[in-house]
Amino acid sequence: MIAIGSDHGGFGLKEEIKKYFEKEQIKYKDFGTFCEDPTDYSDIAAEVSKAVAEGGFGKGIIICGTGIGVSIAANKIPGIRAALCTDPYMARMAREHNDANILTLGGRVVGIGLALDIVQAFIDSPFSNEKRHENRINKIKAIEDNYIKNNFTEC
Ligand code: RB5
Repeated sequence: MIAIGSDHGGFGLKEEIKKYFEKEQIKYKDFGTFCEDPTDYSDIAAEVSKAVAEGGFGKGIIICGTGIGVSIAANKIPGIRAALCTDPYMARMAREHNDANILTLGGRVVGIGLALDIVQAFIDSPFSNEKRHENRINKIKAIEDNYIKNNFTEC
């Protein structure tokens, strides 16, 4: 099951991706936004990321105008590895090398056809499970753990 969300800048692309999911019978939950009224990308990024980090969803997709804001916000949530991808190769590498669990897209950057190819590559590509990649991801986890442990005790 895929958690999907966007701000107003990504709303149009989110709706196109949902149509694609319906056609391909890919299960998803839409976390909003549900119209083009301005909304804060940080809020929707936090909601989708929390849902993915808590384990209810295998993957997430978050879209804003550029994909940058939602990517920055999503990567603040422990356990989230959000990757901003602008082509299918990046999406495949994000899965195979980085075990990314969230794809972020720029609704004002990529066209619909390219975005759907990126989404499909992200969904289809497994993590490689190679030791060198596992080690690097574990080092990212160690940074997270260390920061969380020390965050409230140091100025
Ligand atoms: C909204 O105008 C825009 O700033 C937002 O969608 C996103 O691109 C931020 O990174």
